[in-house]
This record gives sequence, structure tokens and C-alpha cells, in this order.
Amino acid sequence: MKRTKLAAVLCASVALPWAAGAVELEVTHWWTSGGEAAAVAEFAKAFDATGNTWVDGAIAGGGDTARPVMISRITGGDPMGATQFNHGQQALELVEAGLMLDLTDVAEAEGWKDIIYPPSLLDSCTVDGRIYCVPVNIHSPEWLWLSNKAYADAGIPVPTNWDEFVASAPALEAAGKLPLALGNQPWQSNLAFGAITVAIGGLDLWKKVNVEKDMEAAAGPEMLKVFEAAAAARKLAEKSTVQDWNQATNMVITGEAGGQIMGDWAQGEFAVAEKVAGTDYTCLPGLGVNKYISTGGDAFYFPKLDDPEKEAAQKQLASVMLSKEAQVAFNLKKGSLPVRGDVDLAAANDCMKKGLEILASGNIVPSGDQVWTPDTQAQVEDLMIEFWKSQDMAPADAQARWVEILKSDS
Ligand code: GAL
Repeated sequence: MKRTKLAAVLCASVALPWAAGAVELEVTHWWTSGGEAAAVAEFAKAFDATGNTWVDGAIAGGGDTARPVMISRITGGDPMGATQFNHGQQALELVEAGLMLDLTDVAEAEGWKDIIYPPSLLDSCTVDGRIYCVPVNIHSPEWLWLSNKAYADAGIPVPTNWDEFVASAPALEAAGKLPLALGNQPWQSNLAFGAITVAIGGLDLWKKVNVEKDMEAAAGPEMLKVFEAAAAARKLAEKSTVQDWNQATNMVITGEAGGQIMGDWAQGEFAVAEKVAGTDYTCLPGLGVNKYISTGGDAFYFPKLDDPEKEAAQKQLASVMLSKEAQVAFNLKKGSLPVRGDVDLAAANDCMKKGLEILASGNIVPSGDQVWTPDTQAQVEDLMIEFWKSQDMAPADAQARWVEILKSDS
């Protein structure tokens, strides 16, 4: 009997919860930057160590490009073994259509409800009491990343908050620096707006609009101030011509730009460039104004494949992704926070430690992906890139259009 078959028979005879191994799973995601690729390689390594095989299905162009590809493959009968989506409602229709694997048995056997923090992450995976995804990280968008080199070149101190950053723009420009680097994709403009809402509008206003869906607050004078601050910020990014978020991050890494508003996945790029938090770059969560993080991030879903061997391997992959070892190895490289509090992140750098402290303080709110439907998010993103790229759209006009979009989902 061939060795592999013997191994399979032996494994089966001890009733392992998993397949005998040697199952190939294609895993799709949109992690194609240097930092993202280094991080996802840790998941691949951990899954390969089980005797199965991770077949990498990276899709370039970011989430807005990748998700339609993922969805059409699943609904079109060409499903992958596992796929990334953000925490929230992006896979809800696929789950409701009965196309996604129920992971509740693994989740209950491994006590995911007691492991995963904040609980909202597992809630986002739960439909009608059943669990359909494994949360793998916490990413918060509301960070300002500053180039210590750009400020040294400009001969001024590194800002400690958003207002100081805005005030530093003339000196940066005089030194030939781009004040604010911003990529030319809708989600990036929306991310920047959300971060400024936190910084200028404050936590209570953010919650009123994004949690209570209070449309009076959305249309009110406080939010108008946010749109006015965003109009000032778009001036600082006027000469930013890059497309992808990590190209903008690279401008901060090299000192070509003073700063970038971006999620903490930017850390992965600094790490690959061997830049040291606190020495080469400075991170300001909540733009240095309101230190809170929204618990966005990523989860993996598993399309039904109608193959017991593959299904066992899919469940094993979900278990591996949540394991302590994989959580530490992946998140340290991804720049995100782990979804379990019982891991030792001794190697966390100063910025990750700031995020962990805020997470521990409970100063967290759900992400936009967890509050608004994908359709609403897409409409808001389209408005935001129009607003950020056209220097002449009036803040009040943008606010009025924004409120109309939100009303349809509130
Ligand atoms: C987000 C995702 C992050 C990061 C970012 C940029 O949607 O949650 O993991 O990769 O996109 O690609």
C-alpha cells in the first residue's frame, strides 16, 4: 500500500478531526503589497505545515476590484477554497444563498466565542445563529502616518496631532514635500474622510451618524465642519498622483511626503522597508486627536465545495488562521491587531502597542463595513473620491449628497 494511502488509513483510524492532509485549497485575497504579501505568507506557511497545500489566489487592485471577482466565481460555480472579505456584510448575500460553509461545529469545538475579541467580529460572521467566517485581524483606518525624515528636511518638529499637521503644510511644501499623500481609489478618499470625522467631529458625532444612523446629526453643523476640514485636507493632497495606497505609503517611507491618512496595514510597508516606528516614522491613532479605533479588518469565508475531504481541510484552515501561532506571525507582519487577547505580542512595535492599548481601553467602535451595506459604502466612496479630487465641490453640497446616500440605509 502506497505510503500516502497508508498514512491516510492510519489517520482515519485515529479519527482525527481533520482530513488526512494533502488537500489543495485555493485561497483568494487582495493582499498584494509588500507588507500584505509577507503577512499572508505566514498563513500559507501555517496551512502547509498541516500537510495540506495553500494555493495562493492573490487578486491585485484592492478590495473594490477583488470582491466582485470573488463573488462572481462563487455565484458562477467556480468557487475557491477560501476567500477574504472585510468584517461586515460583504458576504451576507452569499451566505443567505446557501453558498458558504457553516463553521459552527469548529467554532463551538474550539470556543471561538470565548477567544475572539471584540465579540462584534464573530457577530459579523454570524447569520441566523450560525457562524460562516473566521475573523483573522483587527484593522483600524483612523491613523496618520508621518515621515520623520520629511519633517527633519523641512526643519520643523513632527506634528503630534491633526491641527499641527495641517499647520505644517507650508513648511513641507517649501521643502519640496507633498504634505498629504493620497492614492486615487474611492475607498482611500472615504477612509480619509472617516478618519477626519473622528478627529474633527469627535467620537460622539461619529457614533451618532455611523452607529445610531442619526440623519439630523449627519446633516448638522458639526458634520459641516468635518466636510470643511476635509476640503482643507484635500488641498494638501492636491498634487498626489499615485493610485494604490501602498504607493502613497512609500512616499512617506522615502520622505517625499509628510504624511498619509491610512489604516494600520501601512505598518506592513514600513516593516518591509525596515523602518522603525518612533525613529523613522510616527503614527497618530485617531489622527492624534481622539484616540479610538474602529474594529474593521478581515475574515475568511469558505465556499461550499461538496467534497468532504476539502470541507475538512477548509475547517482546518479556519482553525489554523485563529491559532495563537498564526495570529502572532500573521498580525506582526500585517500591522494589524490579533482577534484573540491570549497571545504574546512581545515583538509588537510602538505603533502596534498604541493600537493594543486603545483596544484594551475599550475605546472602540464598529467599522463602516460593519454598519453600512456594501452598496451604501460603494455610493459613499464614489461621492468621496469626487469630493476629494475636485477642489471646487463645496463642503455643504458634498454633505447634502452624502446624507441622501446614508438615508437609503438608515
Ligand atoms: C482593507 C483590508 C486590509 C488591507 C487594505 C488595503 O480592506 O482590510 O487588510 O489590505 O484593505 O488593501
